[in-house]
Amino acid sequence: MGRIKNLFEITSKFRCHVDVSTLKPYGSGHINDTYRLKNLAGTEYDYLLQKINNDIFTDVPRLTENMCRVIAHLKGKMDASGEGDPQKEVMTLIATKTGPYFYEDSNGHYWRMCLFLKDTRSYDVVETEKQAYEGGKAFGKFQAMLSDLPADIMHEVIPDFHNIKKRLGQLNQAVKENPKGRAGLVFQELEAIKKRSEVMSFFQEAAQQLTLPRRVIHNDTKFNNVLLDLKGNAQCVIDLDTVMAGYVAYDFGDAIRTIANTAAEDEIELSRIQLNLDLFNAYTKGYMESAASFLKEWELRSLIKGVLLMPYMQAVRFLTDYLNGDKYYKIRSVEHNLERTRAQLQLLKLLEAQATAMEKTILAEAKKYRKHFVKL
Ligand SMILES: Nc1ncnc2c1ncn2[C@@H]1O[C@H](COP(=O)(O)OP(=O)(O)O)[C@@H](O)[C@H]1O
Ligand SMILES: [Mg+2]
Repeated sequence: MGRIKNLFEITSKFRCHVDVSTLKPYGSGHINDTYRLKNLAGTEYDYLLQKINNDIFTDVPRLTENMCRVIAHLKGKMDASGEGDPQKEVMTLIATKTGPYFYEDSNGHYWRMCLFLKDTRSYDVVETEKQAYEGGKAFGKFQAMLSDLPADIMHEVIPDFHNIKKRLGQLNQAVKENPKGRAGLVFQELEAIKKRSEVMSFFQEAAQQLTLPRRVIHNDTKFNNVLLDLKGNAQCVIDLDTVMAGYVAYDFGDAIRTIANTAAEDEIELSRIQLNLDLFNAYTKGYMESAASFLKEWELRSLIKGVLLMPYMQAVRFLTDYLNGDKYYKIRSVEHNLERTRAQLQLLKLLEAQATAMEKTILAEAKKYRKHFVKL
């Protein structure tokens, strides 16, 4: 990421006036390349220019359609209710002069522009309970506001993104083909995965698929995808590339996976991986403030299964990539994907040991808002 040779070609296609000399890389996202640009007119808003990662997102027009649908729904709700400021609390995409909300440049790269939300910050690591609570509030409200948007109109821009049966199938395939001769080195990890495969396939069972509503979910609920204002309150959920149909438990589980782990996702020293249950409790409290009102009883009970599933799924994906020769995730060393696998399996063990306690918290927080539904 750095200089963009055809910057003027790109920026001139959008309906805004930017000062190209002010271009600066911005943020610490791992997927897209993000740059900040000053507004030439010097009026209120600056802009963010993003180069969309076309390796991961192969169908940018459909991805953009998903984003636009979600944005329009959220802004429409705020306009109608008069609650909240749609300019500050929902991201705003800038159209190109020909209409679409993205531009494909002469090198085949895809770009989009959005308003830069000033006086906001995202954090890679949750530092306080207040932050965890704000994160929960942001994603709970996000799901609640989208709970009446039909999920089946969304495009599946990454097919089977959270389908664990498919992911396990890919792992089995990698073991069978064993292209790097590494399968013999991961016996323990494979055993740990195998013995849980049935329990973890909960969301793919036919009965569940009939009872659990598919909803529009975020699919990348890392804490750095929430912008906090200067007071540390949640202001806006960002990074809408992966908004698709799914189960609410996926978003809840992935947030907990990243927030409640005291160590990094790829921690080598397994004893450093601990659960911070205070952060879990705080996230859940914030989440339920908005989510308790729309969640169905069975969905509520599925949340804990999402908490266990997400680190498991991540372990399966890391191990598959290790066996296939590290084609998907960027690695720092030959064993990086194996280390990541082990760290996620360790986290999973800790979560399993606390699952009953965590479920109690989930139900108790929900009960505050819906006394008649939840049997503790
Ligand atoms: N509208 C915005 N206003 C201010 N900062 C933003 C905005 N959108 C994104 N950012 C910042 O840029 C970073 C990367 O953007 P993001 O869309 O999350 O990309 P990635 O998919 O690479 O994670 C975010 O973590 C956040 O700090
Ligand atoms: Mg991001």
